[in-house]
Order: sequence, then structure tokens, then C-alpha cells
Amino acid sequence: MKVDLTNQVALVTGAARGIGRAIADQLATNGARVVYADLDFATAKTAAAAQAISGSALAMDVSSETQVEAGVAQIIQEQGRLDILVNNAGINTMKHRVNIDQFPLEEWQRILSVDLTGLFLVSRAASRHMVERKSGRIVNISSVLGVVPARLQCAFTTAKAGVVQLTRTMAIELAPSNILVNCVAPGSTLTEGTKQLFYSTEAIMQERAKRMLSHVPLNRPGTVEEIAHAVLFFAAPESSYITGQTLCVDGGWTAGGFLRDF
Ligand SMILES: NC(=O)c1ccc[n+]([C@@H]2O[C@H](COP(=O)([O-])OP(=O)(O)OC[C@H]3O[C@@H](n4cnc5c(N)ncnc54)[C@H](O)[C@@H]3O)[C@@H](O)[C@H]2O)c1
Repeated sequence: MKVDLTNQVALVTGAARGIGRAIADQLATNGARVVYADLDFATAKTAAAAQAISGSALAMDVSSETQVEAGVAQIIQEQGRLDILVNNAGINTMKHRVNIDQFPLEEWQRILSVDLTGLFLVSRAASRHMVERKSGRIVNISSVLGVVPARLQCAFTTAKAGVVQLTRTMAIELAPSNILVNCVAPGSTLTEGTKQLFYSTEAIMQERAKRMLSHVPLNRPGTVEEIAHAVLFFAAPESSYITGQTLCVDGGWTAGGFLRDF
């Protein structure tokens, strides 16, 4: 997919690796100047450096109000503008795959603080600037688990459902300022983390991967590039009449089935 983002400045959170990096790379390849923001500054720097002059790195913990405010202010000061925000940074737990009656409060708070509060904090700081300029695009990364239910992940599913609803709220609040807000909800996507599951030789992992894919009509995980293309679509100048929407990029999962455990 090719779009023209020349002269636009984009901020992608959680851009050091995985889906975030693919999104940042796609935006840069299509002409934007991209700020790769991440907790992991060293890796973000390497990722940004691969884009030569279109990429720069920023150390930012999205769950820290102070770091978010300072980071966005720094972008405006250095780049003069912020046109596109992609709220991608997100975490989940593999350790606590338990029902709500066993779910630790600290784990609930840790996940909500990044996946939902973090997204709120970065959106608030960025939209303040976008409202002044009466222009902007915000793309939030949720998950199919924000759209359909799943057991054993109450914090993640709740946070990601919150992202879908916050997308709609932001869309109607910011529409008068010509800021479009949309959401991409990935299904199972191949990253360094999930490759360990999908490519494992252990029988228990292979069984888990098989159960995950049994809910995916296309019967394979998505690639990070396939997620990034959907984000690029929402960021493109051509998508100027779409706001408040969630696009599931999930191989047909949400079209076909609902329940899964892993
Ligand atoms: N991979 C999947 O199958 C999948 C499926 C559905 C949704 N998602 C969502 O897509 C997004 C990216 O997922 P991924 O699989 O690429 O994750 P990942 O773990 O591979 O990468 C996440 C990146 O975010 C950074 N990060 C974590 N906490 C942060 C914080 N507080 N502040 C700033 N950066 C932080 C990490 O350092 C890392 O670089 C997440 O929001 C995730 O919930 C992923």
C-alpha cells in the first residue's frame, strides 16, 4: 500500500519492536517523519536509525503523565507539529492466566495503567496540540479481545474494550476540530513473543497454537505488516470521512467465532 504522508509528523508508541515497529516503518516509508517512542529507548533508537532522516527515537513510558507531557512537548518543539498519533504500546500477562476470582489487583492495575490510562494520557497531550491546529489523526490499537469475550484475561480484555469505546468518545469530541480517531483491533499476530507459541516444538504449545487458530477462518496468524497496513489506511489523507471506527484485522475471527481459552 502506498500513500503520501510527506511533511507529516507521526508519533508511534511502543515502536521499538513488533506491531509498533512495523507501523512506524510503514509511516516512514510513506513519507512521514516518525518518532519511535518506547520504554526501551536503546531498541527504539536502532529501529529509528534504520529509517535514516525520517526516524527519531524518544524514551517514553506511556503510563507516566510526566514523561508523556514532556515527550509530546519535545516533539512539538523539535518537529514543530504532530499530525498522526498511533497509540500502540500495550502489555498483557502470560503469568496470570486465571479467572477473575484469582486475578491479582497489582496485575490488573499494571495492565490498565499502560493499555488504557497510557492511551488516554498520550491522546490527551497530542490532541491538545491537534485541537489548536484543527487537524490530526489518531489510531488506537485495541485487540479482537476488546471486541469479543475471552476467559483468563480480564484486565487485558477490559482495557482493550475500553480502547474501542474511548475511540468513539474521542471521535465525537474531536470531530469539530477536524481530528479523526479510529481503532485497529488485531487478532493473533506474529511477533517475537507469539512466534515462540506458533513455532514451538513443544506439544503443549502446539496444542495451544492449534486451539487459537481453530477460531481463525484463515487458519493462520497475521503478520505485523498486515496490521500496519490497516493503520496506514486510517492515517492516509484519502480516509478523510471515517472516524470512530474499529477495524478488526483478524483473519475472520470476529466474523466466525467467539470463545477461546489460551
Ligand atoms: N501480537 C498480537 O498478537 C496482538 C494481538 C492483539 C493486540 N495486540 C496489541 O498490539 C500492540 C502491540 O503488540 P505487540 O505484540 O507488538 O507487543 P510487543 O510486546 O512485541 O511490543 C510492545 C512494545 O511496547 C513497548 N512498551 C511496553 N510498555 C510500554 C510503556 N509503558 N510505554 C511505552 N512503551 C511500552 C515495549 O517495550 C515494546 O517495544 C499492543 O497494544 C497489543 O496489545 C497484539
